[in-house]
Amino acid sequence: MTNPPISPAPTEPQGELVIRTIAMPADTNPNGDIFGGWLMSQMDLGAAIYARNLSRSRVTTVAVDGMAFLNPVNVGDIVNCHASILKVGRTSMKINVEAWVQRSTDSKLLRVTEGVFTYVAIDENGRPQPVHR
Ligand SMILES: CC(C)(COP(=O)(O)OP(=O)(O)OC[C@H]1O[C@@H](n2cnc3c(N)ncnc32)[C@H](O)[C@@H]1OP(=O)(O)O)[C@@H](O)C(=O)NCCC(=O)NCCS
Repeated sequence: MTNPPISPAPTEPQGELVIRTIAMPADTNPNGDIFGGWLMSQMDLGAAIYARNLSRSRVTTVAVDGMAFLNPVNVGDIVNCHASILKVGRTSMKINVEAWVQRSTDSKLLRVTEGVFTYVAIDENGRPQPVHR
C-alpha cells in the first residue's frame, strides 16, 4: 500500500492581509520569547476585522480550533496575519488565519502560526443574527 502524497508547506500567505504589527519586548514571556497568547490575540483581532467587514455587523468569537505554533516569533519581527473564509453559515463565519513573520534580519516570510477562528454575527443585544453579505 502506498502512502498518500504529503502536500508541501505553503511558501506564501493565503488570504487577505488583515493586521500588520511589530513584536515588541512588552509582548514577551518570562523567557524573553514572544508569548503565544499575544500572537493569538493579533490573529483574533485581524480575523474579527475580516468577519465584521464580511457580515457588516458586530461579531463575537465563538471558537478557535486547530491552533498550531510552527516557528517562534522574535522581538522585532514584523508580524502579518492573513485571513480567508472557509465557511459562511446562517449566523457564523469560519475563518482560516495564518501568521507570517519577517525577521528583522531577513526580508523572507516565515509561517509561524495557523488556526481556524469562528465568529458569530450579533445584534445590539449580543444575540446571533443572520450574516448579511
Ligand atoms: C456566540 C454566542 C452569541 C452564540 O450564542 P448561541 O445562543 O450559542 O447561538 P447558537 O447556538 O444559535 O449558535 C450560533 C452560531 O454559532 C455556531 N456555534 C456555536 N457554538 C459553536 C462552536 N463551539 N464552534 C463553532 N460554531 C459554533 C452555531 O453553529 C451557529 O452557527 P450558524 O447560525 O451559522 O448555524 C454566545 O455563545 C456567546 O455570547 N458566547 C460568548 C462569546 C464571547 O464572549 N467571545 C469572546 C470571548 S473572550
